[in-house]
Amino acid sequence: MSVWAILVAAGRGERLGLEQPKAFAKLGEDPLLAEPLRRLDECEWIDALVVVAPPGWEEPAILLAEELGCAKVSECVAGGATRTDSVRAGLAAVPEDALVVLVHDAARPFVSDEVVGRVLAPLSEGWDGAIPGLPVPDTLKRVDGDGAVRETVSRDGLWAVQTPQAFLADALRRAYARAGDATDCAALVEAAGGRVKVVEGDPRLLKVTTTADLERVASWL
Ligand code: CTP
Ligand code: MG
Repeated sequence: MSVWAILVAAGRGERLGLEQPKAFAKLGEDPLLAEPLRRLDECEWIDALVVVAPPGWEEPAILLAEELGCAKVSECVAGGATRTDSVRAGLAAVPEDALVVLVHDAARPFVSDEVVGRVLAPLSEGWDGAIPGLPVPDTLKRVDGDGAVRETVSRDGLWAVQTPQAFLADALRRAYARAGDATDCAALVEAAGGRVKVVEGDPRLLKVTTTADLERVASWL
């Protein structure tokens, strides 16, 4: 079974608000991208990697992979305007004979071997995809623009989902051959009729969105 990983790092990081794209924000000594890149490259379950960089940042991304001694990086391609476009660009660089494709947000630097193992396991049990998630702990409200509460939403059965997300390559390709945009890959696979399972996620898969998130993640280094 050949497992390819697509590391999507092409976002601008508007909410972080730095000069450079979020993947090149400093996390300790290195750019943020270094942490997930090194972790996926070292992961025994993964055979090869495609890095999706912000347009114009392909060269620095390749240099970083070389500096880190990442042996599994096959290609670095430029991303698109949306996450969906960036995943599609990465998928085009995955060879036809790949059986499984794992997609991970570079903005979640602390990916672990354990969670990769958890999302891969259901793919040999008849599932088209598996994604990590955590049950939503807070009470949920639907709120109007002026702050008025419209309703309290039951959190029963609601999960907040993360990446890495793993899919049978055929199911992911079918989903991305269709039109549509979504904030995660699973939504497109679900829309295409795929069966997706949620497995236990990890609080350390926090997505870096704001400066406070970056500081929090830096404290885990
Ligand atoms: N991403 C991408 N291409 C895009 C948009 C997002 O590859 N056009 C990636 C980001 O690099 C990130 C992941 O998708 O690893 C999740 O996106 P998000 O956290 O929203 O990052 P940004 O879009 O960069 O941040 P912002 O929305 O604040 O601009
Ligand atoms: Mg975004």
